[in-house]
Amino acid sequence: MNPDTIPRDRLPALLCTAPKAELHIHIEGSLEPELIFALAQRNGVSLAYPSVDALRAAYAFTDLQSFLDIYYAGASVLLKAQDFEDMAMAYFHRAKTDHVVHAELFFDPQTHTARGVSFETVIAGLSRACERAQNELGISSALILCFLRHLSEEEAFATLEEALPFRGQFIGVGLDSSERGHPPEKFARVFARCRELGLRLVAHAGEEGPPEYVWSALDVLKVERIDHGVRSVEDPLLMQRLARDRVPLTVCPLSNVKLCVFKTLAEHNLPALLDAGLCATVNSDDPAYFGGYMNQNFVEVFDALPQLTARHAHQLMANSFEASFASDAQKLQWREALDNVFSPTA
Ligand code: HPA
Ligand code: ZN
Repeated sequence: MNPDTIPRDRLPALLCTAPKAELHIHIEGSLEPELIFALAQRNGVSLAYPSVDALRAAYAFTDLQSFLDIYYAGASVLLKAQDFEDMAMAYFHRAKTDHVVHAELFFDPQTHTARGVSFETVIAGLSRACERAQNELGISSALILCFLRHLSEEEAFATLEEALPFRGQFIGVGLDSSERGHPPEKFARVFARCRELGLRLVAHAGEEGPPEYVWSALDVLKVERIDHGVRSVEDPLLMQRLARDRVPLTVCPLSNVKLCVFKTLAEHNLPALLDAGLCATVNSDDPAYFGGYMNQNFVEVFDALPQLTARHAHQLMANSFEASFASDAQKLQWREALDNVFSPTA
């Protein structure tokens, strides 16, 4: 396999058909406006927007917080296990067309328990969708429970208590929501407890927050992956550390532009992250809000950055498998399938 011999005009098709893993998708962020309205009607929930078009028109964000306000409002239509199952199945069907073979889904239980929806309801619907994704679509998946960082550590501990009877139904914990002013170390004790419990650990850091937040996610929380992490380039020592330990970054190009982390895709630092030897991956974050699912992210970022080559494409997909929490045997199978797609004789 030598991706360097693949011409650039073959890239869009290759990006779309190659097998890939998605590791940074907030399942509540896959709720399309049409489904929000359908669920609102089914559940008798009233919305602040008169139509699907009016809701979509409100998706003009200036920063992370301006997005989160509307994202939490959208999630208010989710009440029953069936709603969570329908939402996740819609995502899995979309992922299938993008040749996503494995997905690790974030979910935000506190967004739902705060509205009187039980943890059991949330996890029952999502778990059922994960089972169906395997049986009906051949997509493997896992769930990662995210703590909302704008809430207290005490509230995170209470959420963990509610979740533990369902310990077999999620593989790890993450940290999301408003980053600025809520550094990872605020959650040091609850992450330590999750680590003792054998949960896999990830955290959003270095999206809007400074490189110091990436350091403390690594050294205080002891996370295995950094979600976003694009501001790491501001700190050369941090870049060395991430490269040396092959700490994966789950990068989300379209999200970064929609939330004004970069002005345009042409200014995105994905090439710099890859060329520094980091295990960077491409992901969709909140695809219903940010203008596209996996393949849209790949195609647009490669289109905007001509220095990205077929070798980078292969590396990104290989990184997605390496960075996943799947077994080594499974990773090897995916890697062989990927190499076949990139072999010039294929
Ligand atoms: N950042 C932080 N929290 C989030 C995001 C994000 O991109 N999406 C959903 N919750
Ligand atoms: Zn995210």
